[in-house]
Amino acid sequence: MLRNITLYAEADYAAMSRKAAGIFAETVKENPTAAYGFATGSTPEGMYEELVRLYGLGADFTGITTFNLDEYHPIKPDDPQSYYYYMKKRVFDPLGIRKFNLPDGTAPDPSAECIAYEHKLANAGEMAMQILGIGNNGHIGFNEPSDTFACQAGYVPLAADTISANSRFFEDPGMVPRNALTMGLHAIMMAKRILLLASGEGKAQILAQALTGPITPQVPASILQLHPCVTVVADKSAASLLK
Ligand code: GLP
Repeated sequence: MLRNITLYAEADYAAMSRKAAGIFAETVKENPTAAYGFATGSTPEGMYEELVRLYGLGADFTGITTFNLDEYHPIKPDDPQSYYYYMKKRVFDPLGIRKFNLPDGTAPDPSAECIAYEHKLANAGEMAMQILGIGNNGHIGFNEPSDTFACQAGYVPLAADTISANSRFFEDPGMVPRNALTMGLHAIMMAKRILLLASGEGKAQILAQALTGPITPQVPASILQLHPCVTVVADKSAASLLK
C-alpha cells in the first residue's frame, strides 16, 4: 500500500460501519463547522445508522455544511429513489443537519446547475472530509470510466454497468435515470481527507485495482493514489486483495 493510504480491514460490514462512523465523528468533533462531502449507495448506510446512534449519545453534527457527491437527473426530491430523499431520511433529519446541499435533479439546465453547484462548494471553503464509496467499475460519485479524468462537476451519462448495478434499488429497472449530476474529481481531490468505504468480495478486485494498480481514468478512483490523505475502511472481503 502507498504511504498516503491508511487501510482498516474490519471483520465485517457492521465493524466497517462502526469504524468509519467513529473516524467521521472524530473529525467533526475537531472541525465542527467545516464542510463535508457525503456519498450515497448501499455501502455507507451502516455508517449513517451508526452516526445516528452516536448523535443519540451526544455527538453533535448540527454545525456542519454538507455537499453530496451526486444526484440522478431528472429526478424529483420527493422521489424515494432520489439521493435527496435518501439523505434527508437517513442522515440530515436524524442528525439535525440543516445546511445540506445536493445537485438539483430537477434543474432545467443541468450543465448550468453543475457550474452553480461547484461555485457553492468552492465558496464553502475546504472540505474537512469527503466520504466515498466505489462503483463496481471504479467510479467515484458518478465520475465514470473515461479517456480523461473529469476535472469539473458535470452532467453525465451513466455507464451501462452503473445503470445495471443501480437497478436493484428500483422496482422497475427501466426506471433507472440515464443521466446524473456529479461533483468532479477536482473538488473531491481538494478535500483535506478522503474516507473511502468498501464492503463485500464484489468490491475486492476494483478496490485493489484503484489503490494499487495504474492511475488511469479508466478506473476513476485510482486518482486517489495522488491524494495526500486517504483512509480506506473496508471489510475483510473487500480488502482481501490488498497487501
Ligand atoms: C452509486 C453512487 C456512488 C456509490 C456507488 C457504489 O452509483 N453514485 O457514489 O459510491 O454507486 O454504490 P454501492 O455502495 O451501493 O455499491
